Amino acid sequence: MAEQQEPVHMTVRPNGPLRVEGRIILKDADGKEWDLSGKPAVSLCRCGLSEKRPFCDGSHARAEWKCAASPGNMTGK
Ligand code: FES
Repeated sequence: MAEQQEPVHMTVRPNGPLRVEGRIILKDADGKEWDLSGKPAVSLCRCGLSEKRPFCDGSHARAEWKCAASPGNMTGK
């Protein structure tokens, strides 16, 4: 019987990062992986202002970056 895998959950945080929960493998364009061992979740920068991209460092809040994307608001503004 094939092993069932839990889905990865991604949450678009209001005016903030993408919160990714679950077993993920994060690679750069060359296939080099970030070490996420022991991390049940990560927050990925969505605003482009983080000094630790691809991870969120809280810069979105300091810059008062606004983006309220949701399925009912496909423009993401
Ligand atoms: S979303 Fe947090 S620093 Fe970009």
